[in-house]
Parts: sequence; structure tokens; C-alpha cells
Amino acid sequence: NGTLSDLLVVFGITGDLAFKMTIPALYRLERSGYLNCPIVGVAIDDYDDTAISKRFRDSLENAGEHVEHKVISALLARFSYIQGDFLSSSTYDRLRDVVSHSKNPLFYLEVPPALFAPMVKLLTEAGLSQRAKVLIEKPFGTDLASAKALNKTLHGLVEEDQILRIDHFLGKQPLMDLAYIRFANQIIEPLLDRVHMDSIQITMAEDFGVDDRGSFYDRVGAIRDVVQNHLLQVLALVTMDTPLSGAYKDIWDKKVEALRAVSSMDIATSVMGQYDGYLEVPGVSHNSQTETFFATKVSIESWRYFGVPIFIRTGKYLKVRSTEIRVVFKPAPELSYIKDVSTLPPNQMILRIDPKPALRLSICSKDSTGSSGRVVHMDLPFEEELGRLPMPYERLLHDALVGEYSLFTREDAVEESWRIVQPLLDGERNVVSYQKGGYGPKEARHLCKGHLGWQEPWL
Ligand code: BG6
Repeated sequence: NGTLSDLLVVFGITGDLAFKMTIPALYRLERSGYLNCPIVGVAIDDYDDTAISKRFRDSLENAGEHVEHKVISALLARFSYIQGDFLSSSTYDRLRDVVSHSKNPLFYLEVPPALFAPMVKLLTEAGLSQRAKVLIEKPFGTDLASAKALNKTLHGLVEEDQILRIDHFLGKQPLMDLAYIRFANQIIEPLLDRVHMDSIQITMAEDFGVDDRGSFYDRVGAIRDVVQNHLLQVLALVTMDTPLSGAYKDIWDKKVEALRAVSSMDIATSVMGQYDGYLEVPGVSHNSQTETFFATKVSIESWRYFGVPIFIRTGKYLKVRSTEIRVVFKPAPELSYIKDVSTLPPNQMILRIDPKPALRLSICSKDSTGSSGRVVHMDLPFEEELGRLPMPYERLLHDALVGEYSLFTREDAVEESWRIVQPLLDGERNVVSYQKGGYGPKEARHLCKGHLGWQEPWL
């Protein structure tokens, strides 16, 4: 229900994100027959056709992609390169020749966030933005005030519905499935309320550090890097009410409503940690207080979820790499017929997002002796069921090009999510250290007091 774009312009095509994600995504879209418009790459580097071709091939090799001659030739044939400074009007003058043939161009800004507003201004001054969509990478602002200011500046240049804010998490198949699975199943949705649920655990664990991103990460930290965006989007999908239709505006409305009901995060019910050795990472300040681990508890202001805490945790250098949503149900009543049920863990529904998308229901059953209970799992591995799933950037670029906007984020959702994390950014921070290879500082364990403690992610 959006606009079909007839030109894609990628600013920053020679950058890191393009190398790791955009070029492989474009290649896959080409292979699937989904690309049918010209693509222009813009960057400061002095690249000729040979250098571009090499960059594309290197990127595909890096992504482990088997390069088919026919596909890469078709992709390069629709690709042209414009060398230019992102902040120089002459770059946009040169771009005008190409854009003048397009009715609905899509400008993808894979550039440092400080350039978002100046570049949209230059696009507008060059007369290129009237019928365009602008696709913007994260981070969108660094706190609530800066996100509002950026929205205000952009709205002085283009309309809100011309802006598509990317959050690559939303391009992950299991997150797309989440809302559908909830609302399409009578055996799931009615159980998601305060009568049946004990709590929700959202875990995004990574078993690696900040690697070569020290100078970026040290200014950002876990809260801005993945909580304000990825994990609050996940939370919105878990708790939102049914959208009135599949139209993207209806979905956006319900997500914003869900975020508005989430309590602002509180330092008193949050734990920030930093892994041992972080301070030695190149680019990290020697006395950095940046958190590489974060855990918190939030609540939802609604009749439906009142009293159901949502625990969120994320961290670098934890024991495993896993992102999952775990709904913990209340225990069955302790009736004499099932007298050992209270010794068993409660029912759980787990949606694993990474590494292998899957759904699990854990239920109580009898053991082989017939005298006591045990927990059994009903597992649905999505990849085996559905075959190859598109990578997030592949899906999001496709959606942006064909006018399917439900996986992008509207201004009010961005501002709400900053509102939720803002007290953590303002308050006095107490960052405790933790050892690599575990689940973060021990202080985080106390958060779940009175509920089923943090569970080992399902691997
Ligand atoms: C990015 C963060 O947005 O998401 C990274 O900047 C993080 O720090 C990454 O590692 C995780 O994404 P994925 O898709 O690999 O789980």
C-alpha cells in the first residue's frame, strides 16, 4: 500500500555496512528476480567499474555467497557509481541527471547519523526529494531530545511518510511470524494475559565482544545499541493488540500504543555491566563507564498485562549467542492427582529468533515410570519448515522498494522508545564488571526475584 520505487540510490556504497549487508542483499534480490530498477551508488572513493566489480565480488565472497556469473553481471549492469562528497551540492547536481528520469526514487542513507539531516536538506535543495522516500539507518538520535530534534528537522524538509527508518531486527523472519502466530492461534493468544502468564524474558546474548567497533560502541553502549531499538521493537510485537488490518499504518498504530503502555526503565530495577577486558579494546576510553551488559524489568500499564513483569537482558561476551522471547506461564494448581507438578518448571513458550529461528512449547508430562512428571518440548524449527529465509536486509530493501512499509518505524515509535530508556541515560550509572563467558553480573539475577529466574537460552 506504499509506493513502488523505480530507482535506488545508496549513499555509502563503499562503506562497511554496504560491504557486509547491502551488496549481498542486492545480489540475493537480483538472484530471486526481485530487482527491476536502476541502482546508483554514491561515495567519496574514486572507484572505476573494475574497482566496483571487485568490491562487489569481495563482499559476496565475504558473505559466503556462491557467485553466479549471470546474477552478478545483471546486478552490475543495473548499477552505476557517482563519486562525490555527501555534503557537497555538486554531488547532488550530478545525481539530478539520473534522478530526473525517476518518478519515485528511494534514497538509502548508509551514512553516519550526523549526516542524516544535512543530506536530506541537500537532496531537498537540489529538488530531488519531492516524490522520494528516504531510508535511514540507525541510530536515530542519541536520546529523546535529539530524536525529537532530528524528527523536527526532517519534517521541515520532507513529510513523515517519506521517511523509512530501518531496524534490521524487524526483518528477521521469526519476528514477522510473532504477531501472526499470536493472533492466528486460538491456543496461544487467549493465554497471553495476567491470568495465565507469570512473566516474559527477552534475551539477546552475544558470545563475542565489540571487536573492531570500540570507538563507535564506547559512545553508544548496550542500551542505545540494541535496547532502545531492537529489543523494544521485540517487546512491542509481543504485547501489542491486534492491528485493525495488515495495512502498515494500522500495524504502526498498535505498536506505538504498545510502547506507550511500557513503563520507563528505572535504574533501581536495572543492572549495567562491563566485561573484563573491555577497557583494552582499541578506541575505548581508558576509564569508560559504557555498559556492554544490561538487564532490566519493565511493566505494562494495561488491564491485560498488569502485574506481568517483562525482563530484558542483553550483553556482549556472554556464554552463548542467542536471541529469544520466553513467555513463562503460571504453574498448574497443586492438586493431589498431579502432586509433583510444583517440582517441575512451569510451562513456557519460547520463540527463538537467533541463531536458528524456532518455536518451542514446554509442557509437563508423565515420565516412563508413570509415577512422576517430566518436562517435554514441542519444537517447530522454522528453517526446516520454510526453507531458506531471506536475510533481514534483503527483506527490508525489498519491502522499501515495493512500498511495503510495515517493518519500518514511525517517528512516534522512535520517540516512545527513547522515552522508555531515557531515565537510564540521565541517571547516575553504576556499571559493574563481569567475566566473559557467563550471563553477566550476578546482580542481574536478583531482578527476577519472585519469578522463575533467568533461563539458559534454548540452543
Ligand atoms: C547491531 C548492533 O544493530 O545489532 C550490534 O550494533 C549487534 O552490536 C547486532 O551485534 C546484532 O544483530 P544480529 O542480527 O547479528 O543479531
